[in-house]
Amino acid sequence: MIHEKVMLTDVTGRDGFQMEDWIETEEKIIIINEIIAAGVKRIEATSFVSPKAVPQLKDAKEVMKHINRENVNIIALIPNVKGAEFALESSVDEVNVVVSVSETHNRKNVKKSVDESLEGIIEIYRLVESAGKKVNVGLATTFGCPFEGIYEVNRVTEVMKKLTANGLSSFMLADTTGMANPLQVSNFIKSLKGAFPSTDLSLHLHNTRGMGLANILAGYHSGIRSFDASLGGIGGCPFAPGATGNVALEDVAHMFYQMNIPIDPNLTKLIRAAKKLEEVLGYKLPGQVMKAGLSTDLHQA
Ligand code: COA
Ligand code: ZN
Repeated sequence: MIHEKVMLTDVTGRDGFQMEDWIETEEKIIIINEIIAAGVKRIEATSFVSPKAVPQLKDAKEVMKHINRENVNIIALIPNVKGAEFALESSVDEVNVVVSVSETHNRKNVKKSVDESLEGIIEIYRLVESAGKKVNVGLATTFGCPFEGIYEVNRVTEVMKKLTANGLSSFMLADTTGMANPLQVSNFIKSLKGAFPSTDLSLHLHNTRGMGLANILAGYHSGIRSFDASLGGIGGCPFAPGATGNVALEDVAHMFYQMNIPIDPNLTKLIRAAKKLEEVLGYKLPGQVMKAGLSTDLHQA
C-alpha cells in the first residue's frame, strides 16, 4: 500500500530555544542548518516577539539572515503587527500566530483577552496576506489548560469560527502542556473537521506526560498529515507551569519510517543533528531514538 506523505515541521529554533538558557546565535544557526541539511522542509526557526518576554530569541533577525534558505519553508512566530513587520523584513515564507483557547493562558502568554488576540490576528492576516505570505494559527491549550483544566471541543470551535469567518484557514492544534490523550485527539479532530471541512489542520503536541507519539498516531489515523516536533524533544511554553518538550523530531520520524509512511528528512542525519544539539546544550536530551539508534541497526551477537 502506498501511503500519503507526512509533513514534519521542526520547531527547535522557536519552541525549543525559547526554553533554554541563552544559546549563542552562531550555535543556533549551526543547529538549524543541520536540520535543514537533514532534509526537513518546514522549520519554525525563531520568533519576532518582545525581547523582554522571550530574551532567548532576541537575535531573530540575525538567525534569519544566516540560515540556509534553500529548499525549505522558514516560519517565524509573531505576537503582533510589529512582529509581522519584522518577519516580513526578514523574508519569512510563513508566519505563525498564536491564540490560546484558554482565557487565562492567553493573558499569561500575550497579555490580552482571547477576543483582543483574535482581532489582532485578523489585522496581522490582512498585512501578511497582502505580502503574499501564509498565516497559520496556533491554538494553544486546545486539549486543556494548566490553569483552567480540560474543556469540550466547542471552546475550540468558537475560537476557530471567528478566524475562519475572516479568511484564516490553517490551524495548528497545540497541546501546550501535554494534557491530551489519543481518544480525545481523535474526537476533537473529527468534530473540527466536521465543523470546518475546508481548513488545514496540523498537530503541535508536547510530550509532557509521555503521550506525544500516541497522540500523533491518533492524529494520523484521524487524517492529519502535518505534525510539529523538535530535535531531541526540547521545548515548551515559558508561560505555562510544568511545560516540557515537544515530541522528539527523530522519534516521530522513526515511527513513520518504520510504518513505511513517506517523510522528507533523513533519519540518520536527524540523529546526528540531535546529538550535536545535545553537545551544544550540555545535558541529556529526552529523545529516545538518538540514544537507542534505529530499530534496524543490529548489534554484534
Ligand atoms: N518584536 C520586538 N519587540 C516588541 C514586539 C515584537 N513583536 N512587540 C512588542 N515589542 C516591544 C515593544 O517595543 C516594547 O519595548 P519597549 O519597552 O522597549 O518600548 C515592549 O516590547 C513591550 O511592548 P508592549 O506592546 O507594551 O507589549 P506587552 O508588554 O504588552 O507584551 C507581547 C505583549 C505580546 C508583545 C509580549 O507578551 C510577547 O512578545 N509575548 C510573546 C509570547 C511568546 O512568544 N510565547 C511563547 C510562544 S507561544
Ligand atoms: Zn509548543
